[in-house]
Amino acid sequence: MDRIPEPELMDEVPQALAYAEADFSLTDQAFITRFLQLASEPGRRIVDLGCGPGNVTFPIAERLPDAEVVGIDGAAAMLAIAAERQRGAGPAAGRLRFLQLDLADGALARPPLAGSFSAVVSNSALHHLHDPVVFWAAVRRLGAPGAWVVVRDLRRPASKRELEAIVAREAADAPPILQRDYRASLYAAFRPDEVEQQLREAGLAGWRVEPLDDRYLEVWGQLTASPGGGTTPPAAGR
Ligand SMILES: C[S@@+](CC[C@H](N)C(=O)[O-])C[C@H]1O[C@@H](n2cnc3c(N)ncnc32)[C@H](O)[C@@H]1O
Repeated sequence: MDRIPEPELMDEVPQALAYAEADFSLTDQAFITRFLQLASEPGRRIVDLGCGPGNVTFPIAERLPDAEVVGIDGAAAMLAIAAERQRGAGPAAGRLRFLQLDLADGALARPPLAGSFSAVVSNSALHHLHDPVVFWAAVRRLGAPGAWVVVRDLRRPASKRELEAIVAREAADAPPILQRDYRASLYAAFRPDEVEQQLREAGLAGWRVEPLDDRYLEVWGQLTASPGGGTTPPAAGR
């Protein structure tokens, strides 16, 4: 089944609210556990690409009490919710920062952001990019030499029938706007082989791309010690 891109930014207020109110806690928690397992030394500056309302940004800051955590998203509607959550976030709030930037913004290639992060994470954002080159370029620009990178995203089902079965199973009780977005995201998502090709083209060949149950994929690797490079990750098992 061919990919059908969806709008990049989730900038409609009702859309952002429906997303923020949905309960993704199980998959969010699984992502954070996996990040901490893979990036055994994540360092003290973490960036979350396409952070939305901060679903994984906040818990990462809570789990890493020495780290500054920066969330980047282009959607004002999402970041307004993140800012509201930050006001009630407790001690971690002071170590969190949210920036409204498109991943294609030139600011990612300049100080103080460029090369300043010891780890790069992203949950459920890659599929939004019309051109995935922009996503992997952002990863390379922001990560310091040796930075860990852990990305989880949806993956595109093989057929419309399979896709509709996933929507029916996972989103039957969701509000219509969330159902709409979930369906659009599954159509826009990449297959593992497509992500492997993206990584080769980005100079990140050898990073691991693994399918995860019937609707996710996981990517991880470590930038080389020289700025902007990519290398094969250690064979960390699931
Ligand atoms: C499905 S949400 C994921 C939110 C969050 N990462 C989470 O774990 O729930 C995808 C987010 O990526 C953002 N996004 C998509 N394309 C972007 C771009 N080109 N630049 C910055 N943010 C982008 C959207 O605005 C949206 O908030």
